Amino acid sequence: MELSTVPDALAGAFRDAFAEEPSGVWSAPGRVNLIGEHTDYNHGLCLPVAIPRRTYVAARRRDDRLVRILSRQVPGERTIPLDGLLQGSRGGWAAYAVGVLWALEQAGHRVGGLDVAVDGRVPLGSGLSSSAALECAVAVAAVDLFALEGFDGDEGRRALAQVCVRAENDVAGAPTGGMDQSASLLARRDTALLLDFDGDVAPRHVPFDLAAHGLSLLVMNTRAVHSLDDGQYGNRREECAAAVAELGVGSLRDMALADLDGSLRRLSSDLLRRRVRHVLTEIDRVTRTVAALEADDFAALPSLFEASHRSMRDDFEISCAELDTAVETARTAGALAARMTGGGFGGSAIAIVPASGVDDISSAVESAFSAKGFREPELFPVSAGGPAMREPWTGGR
Ligand code: GLA
Repeated sequence: MELSTVPDALAGAFRDAFAEEPSGVWSAPGRVNLIGEHTDYNHGLCLPVAIPRRTYVAARRRDDRLVRILSRQVPGERTIPLDGLLQGSRGGWAAYAVGVLWALEQAGHRVGGLDVAVDGRVPLGSGLSSSAALECAVAVAAVDLFALEGFDGDEGRRALAQVCVRAENDVAGAPTGGMDQSASLLARRDTALLLDFDGDVAPRHVPFDLAAHGLSLLVMNTRAVHSLDDGQYGNRREECAAAVAELGVGSLRDMALADLDGSLRRLSSDLLRRRVRHVLTEIDRVTRTVAALEADDFAALPSLFEASHRSMRDDFEISCAELDTAVETARTAGALAARMTGGGFGGSAIAIVPASGVDDISSAVESAFSAKGFREPELFPVSAGGPAMREPWTGGR
């Protein structure tokens, strides 16, 4: 389906379900992270890019405190009362949406019930932040529909990202950091977003216009199962917290890379040493990647991406056979740089490839997957897209 027709079709689905016209259509993007993985909850740096795959919501205020919600991707409509949300409604895709309204109220804003129809164009479970896209689309819709104040500009969007993180952590039960929501709300076209989670640091927009360099960013969704609320992501977070406690520091960001070996010696297990080594070296790789992009030095990227992937595979242990195959095959077939992206344990990898090589590299990855008996991957090139917004949809058929 042509993306420009999505808002109209979604408004039609809204009308069919709720017998009323939606007040508007909003959308928010998924993301890939160029580099800086599992660093956000360690007060570190990361460098995401919003992708043109977005989640759309058509919505309308209700006079009561019910949320009626349906998705074009999931059969059935659900009705969820806003009150008592935390008692028992945890789990399920709708929690990501309704949780945002709960978190807005927790932050002192006055909201009410909504009718919502969702069309999620970010592949689910792909590690491309379909959950954050849903949260952020609902969040910008709620800001408009309830005329909420304090969410304008980059400052306001950062506050809104915090609300969405709270929804994901406390209602949906996924203990994630803030990268995905920040990317979805703050990204800008043709740039990557440098996020610094150490205190109140404003994000920086880093040039990332690959097309101008004859390059493309290829997303390789392995379709290997990826979930952020199944305990594996949380384990890594707990291991980092255990290392912080052993080292007696405020966060891993407080550790100096120059003194890495000394710090590692103070840890009680090889496992914690590997986790800490990943986080510290990964934060350094983000700094180096930003320097390279700002100097237009793409030649620096292959070794940074390779070191990052190796660190995630061997030290942080969040890769899998499918991700390793995608990365290795893309590189052998001519990608400039490749690495897994996002939380890991399945999901997606990315490759920076010559624009003229997208088809050949994609075929090579597909053949490698088929030869190994993996599920057929989903491959598509993306450019750096814009943030969550109200769609220019004015209603009517
Ligand atoms: C997921 C989480 C993010 C971040 C990444 C790993 O996408 O939602 O907060 O921790 O994993 O970098």
